[in-house]
Amino acid sequence: MTTLFSPLTLRGTTFANRAWLAPMCQYSATDGVPSDWHLVHLGARASGGFGLLLTEATAVVPEGRISPQDTGIWNEEQVVAWRRVTDFVHARGTRIGIQLAHAGRKASTYRPFSSPQGSVPVADGGWETVGPSPSSFPGYAAPQALTDAEIEDVPRQFAAAAKRAVDAGFDVVEVHAAHGYLLHQFLSPLSNQRDDEYGGSLENRMRLLVDVTDAVRAAWPDERPLLVRVSATDWVEGGLTVEDVAVVAKELAGHGVDLVDVSTGGNAHADIPVGPGYQVPAARTIRATAGLPVAAVGLLDDPRLAEATLADGSADAVLVGRAALRDPHWALRAAHELGVATSGLPVAEPTADVDGLPTVTGWQPQYERGTWR
Ligand SMILES: Cc1cc2nc3c(=O)[nH]c(=O)nc-3n(C[C@H](O)[C@H](O)[C@H](O)COP(=O)(O)O)c2cc1C
Repeated sequence: MTTLFSPLTLRGTTFANRAWLAPMCQYSATDGVPSDWHLVHLGARASGGFGLLLTEATAVVPEGRISPQDTGIWNEEQVVAWRRVTDFVHARGTRIGIQLAHAGRKASTYRPFSSPQGSVPVADGGWETVGPSPSSFPGYAAPQALTDAEIEDVPRQFAAAAKRAVDAGFDVVEVHAAHGYLLHQFLSPLSNQRDDEYGGSLENRMRLLVDVTDAVRAAWPDERPLLVRVSATDWVEGGLTVEDVAVVAKELAGHGVDLVDVSTGGNAHADIPVGPGYQVPAARTIRATAGLPVAAVGLLDDPRLAEATLADGSADAVLVGRAALRDPHWALRAAHELGVATSGLPVAEPTADVDGLPTVTGWQPQYERGTWR
């Protein structure tokens, strides 16, 4: 038995295993509506054995999209389109969460594979961006600083999106407070120069994230988990540190957050020592200091490393991103490589013997180590 393929329960929701699909923008939506692309992207990974799939950063309001091709959940048409995806994933016996996001000063940018790059001008389908302060992310257009009244709208926007996520059939909500997007912009002194109750001290800088968390928790069913993705460090002098973010995580634990998903960076150009498991130490620190479950992410491509990260108590789940783009069945392959039959994966029990071979319904039969499981 491995930790990676053992179940995890948060609130009233059980995940068949701890190999989860990381949220990844697909840049393939029109007017925020998920398309066949999203059904295939997420559907393939549901069949690939992941215990939880997270959608890409999905905007709570149109101006919160990173690119004009991002998905959203600000209207009914989007809810109906997401429902098709969640129904498919549930029919495969797995769980799906929506990452709710507002990109703030990093909104309205061209897709990574477009030329040109940078901010999309209004004339080309872009929009004016907003942020805590008028300072821009290097290379992007300067945002408008949000007024106090506009800041108070943000928790309401996230809560309305969470309500729609219930109708769309999601099992989990993850609030995106990482990678230099709006909630991270408020958290970080690099992007927040406000001198009101939303700026200055760490307590003030985390106020908007805490308000968003409270609003989402109130709108989201009690038995369903709430996750928050954080950037544990800005990787630059004067920016957020792991110690700061551990304080934030501890506060979030008291506001109904069930797991913190620990990423890093995205709010400044920085020299990051990237390598296998490079963000795991941050996850371990936050788990130990804040005393709540965490997910680790970042180059955990090798199933042995993913397993070791869980087995040594650094994290409670791992998220796999690019390796799952290369191999939608990463989780099934990981189980095979770790010598786990199919235990912990959403596999139907054999129901009948035909010519000495058991058959299964609702799932592809799997034969591991000479034994049907
Ligand atoms: C194409 C692509 C899109 C991404 N989009 C998002 C996103 O929407 N939200 C997010 O929090 N992280 C996003 N990420 C970051 C991943 O979730 C993950 O943290 C990162 O890729 C590191 O994990 P990996 O080494 O397993 O790929 C994206 C990464 C990639 C490669």
